[in-house]
Amino acid sequence: NSQHACNLALFGAMGDLSRRKLLKALYYLDRASLLHADTRIIGLARNSLDDQGFKEVAIENLQRFVPTSELDDTILQRFVARLSYIALDMTEITGYQLLADHIAADSKPMVAYMATPPSVFGDICANLDKVGLSHLPNRIVLEKPLGKDLSSSQEINDKVAEHFKEQQIYRIDHYLGKETVQNLIALRFANNLFGSQWNQNHIDHVQITVAEEVGVEGRWSYYDKSGQMRDMIQNHLLQLLCLIAMDPPYDLSADSIRDEKLKVLRALKPMTGERLSQNSVRGQYVAGTQHGKAVPGYLEEEGANLQSTTETFVALKAEIGNWRWAGVPFYLRTGKRMPSKVSEIIIQFRQQPHYIFAPDQRNIASNKLIIRLQPDEGMTLQIATKDQGLDKGMRLRSGPLELNFSEAFKQDRIPDAYERLLLEVMLGNQSLFVRRDEVEYAWRWVDQIIQGWENSNEPPKKYQAGTWGPVSSIALISRDGRSWNEDA
Ligand code: BG6
Repeated sequence: NSQHACNLALFGAMGDLSRRKLLKALYYLDRASLLHADTRIIGLARNSLDDQGFKEVAIENLQRFVPTSELDDTILQRFVARLSYIALDMTEITGYQLLADHIAADSKPMVAYMATPPSVFGDICANLDKVGLSHLPNRIVLEKPLGKDLSSSQEINDKVAEHFKEQQIYRIDHYLGKETVQNLIALRFANNLFGSQWNQNHIDHVQITVAEEVGVEGRWSYYDKSGQMRDMIQNHLLQLLCLIAMDPPYDLSADSIRDEKLKVLRALKPMTGERLSQNSVRGQYVAGTQHGKAVPGYLEEEGANLQSTTETFVALKAEIGNWRWAGVPFYLRTGKRMPSKVSEIIIQFRQQPHYIFAPDQRNIASNKLIIRLQPDEGMTLQIATKDQGLDKGMRLRSGPLELNFSEAFKQDRIPDAYERLLLEVMLGNQSLFVRRDEVEYAWRWVDQIIQGWENSNEPPKKYQAGTWGPVSSIALISRDGRSWNEDA
């Protein structure tokens, strides 16, 4: 059944995430008939508004963020009729009592979505508990950042765990909600062609690139405390790495998948000493141009502190110490103000054990699988063929086997990650959410890298906005006789 009724309590309903992403995602779910007729959405925030005021805010936001052609008036009215609002101070019990009274009359589970800073997660959980809302099947959704290192993340998780059980806790990593990310599981475990080759006998190396075109977009003071390592690698890139590297789960249940991901995180080789200095690059952008337009450097963005050594780019060579991946590097890179927005995973297969073609064509005779997460979601498998023509002899040529999802499946739009994630929470399926031990093992690995950088006292390398990062990130891979995928 794709429809389960619930009371969705949206904490931080007037904040950026809720206005930009969550209300829109809920509208699209309603439009796709995936919201149960009895599902109700209760906005909770400090602002003094009444139900009508919140409905108006919602309509205004949907008109702003949903294309007119997709904004159907009947659906909009149906959606808005689900909304109500309670003004509350997150740290005071009064508003929670109102919430409890508001939903007391029905037996639907409550889903409390915390689109708030993590500093109030503890208060929200304690207050929900006090008013008798912490029992199963009620659940809570936590947004990032879940701490800034292992100990702060443990502190948050401990506070939440005083009131809610792990099976009630849904930790968001929005990358797990992207269609193409979920497709990694189908690709690997539904296709024997890949399944049988997915190890160090056949794969030379893996690359994961998440390049962003944007800079810090007016959130300098948040971002500066975090940096690209905490903001992107600790969560999104490590989750992608896990899905690529994990062993086949026993089944598709949440814990089977998460058990396998956890094993990968535990097998990541520590990055300290020489391994850290050789295998990591951190960068910070200076002024440059993107698409012919001048853009400011990180230290020239609004609100910037000129002494900041926060990184806006990271490249790493990660290694997984287990039988499947021994000797196969995973090169990761992610940065702000790159030439274009592109997220892709490259699986570079090994060359043939015995090579019989012209020596200068060696590179062509190996397969490369390119998985494009965004934009142009799809996959390309580069294969070697004979070049056509009588004069070509046995010259090789590399050609793509191409699968573009929106063309192949005639989809009018690819759903946003938040649509999938909200739907899964309402269905009570935790597979696409991060378990506590995953978050903590990811922090363990990331913490020692950040610690090593801090100890070295080396500032990040500068790179010009609109380029692919500091030159040393090219050296990081070319030292091994390999190169970043050029098509990015
Ligand atoms: C967020 C980060 O988690 O992911 C942002 O905080 C980043 O800094 C964003 O820009 C990238 O997400 P997407 O879906 O646009 O690739």
